[in-house]
Amino acid sequence: MTDKYALFGKPVSQSRSPFIHSCFAAQFNQVIDYQAILIAADSDFLADVQAFARAGGQGANVTAPYKEMAYQICRQLSPAAALAGAVNTLLFLSDGSISGDNTDGIGLVRDLERITSLNGKRVLLIGAGGAARGCILPLLESGINALTLTNRTLHKARHLCELFAAHVPAEVSLTSHALAELANDYDIIINSTSAGLGGELPALDARVVKGSLCYDMVYGAGLTLFNQWAFTAGAKQVHDGLGMLVGQAAVSFQLWRKQTPDIEPVLTQLRLQLEQA
Ligand code: ATR
Repeated sequence: MTDKYALFGKPVSQSRSPFIHSCFAAQFNQVIDYQAILIAADSDFLADVQAFARAGGQGANVTAPYKEMAYQICRQLSPAAALAGAVNTLLFLSDGSISGDNTDGIGLVRDLERITSLNGKRVLLIGAGGAARGCILPLLESGINALTLTNRTLHKARHLCELFAAHVPAEVSLTSHALAELANDYDIIINSTSAGLGGELPALDARVVKGSLCYDMVYGAGLTLFNQWAFTAGAKQVHDGLGMLVGQAAVSFQLWRKQTPDIEPVLTQLRLQLEQA
């Protein structure tokens, strides 16, 4: 029987995950059945997940708006998922229980490492929502020298600093600063805000991004709004989050199937599809 996996979320019809995971399987001459499953707002998330596992599901991904709910239903959590407060990867254990992991942050770090070395880098993370929180631990453990959190609502960035304080390696500093007080002090600037979805930009001074590598967690055909702005403001390089999407999928695939897929060819195909759409 073909191994079954799924993505749970709402909406899911636009998801690239079924394509990405079948490409990964094909790299090992395998075929898997990976379905995107829409979970209605009024449905019982745990019951739907359990039904999928009973029907032979081997594992699943979870996307918005169910990552926090997925965190709640897991009996075991990886350190990344526990600190993120959110789960994007479910593993169904033989005793019927569910184990949860969060591969979003590792996916981001893998993609950044594909682009540049993270050793000793000073990193600015803009935003303090779920997307930012999921990336903090993997970033702190990636060899960087300093991580600064900033957010429109500063107290949320401060809160995240406190939450992660006990997990900061000795050689790394974790601080928070108001957007308006930032200097031109960062090698890498990551935008995790949803501002672009509403056609807006975080209130960042252009001089802050001058000469740095900017990474927007969202992606699309052409430059994202943040990357357009950053490029004009003098960023050295701009990258979008398509590689993070493929990176997090690769880590999920590895957790389920104990095989490490190659991100690069899938990313190239996806980029082509995006540009031709
Ligand atoms: P996600 O789970 O995708 O991170 P979220 O939890 O709703 O989504 O968080 C969205 C993030 O984008 C927050 O950091 C939010 O800032 P606030 O905490 O001040 O709300 C940020 N954000 C959204 N719209 C923004 C805008 N127009 N300018 C700056 N930041 C914005």
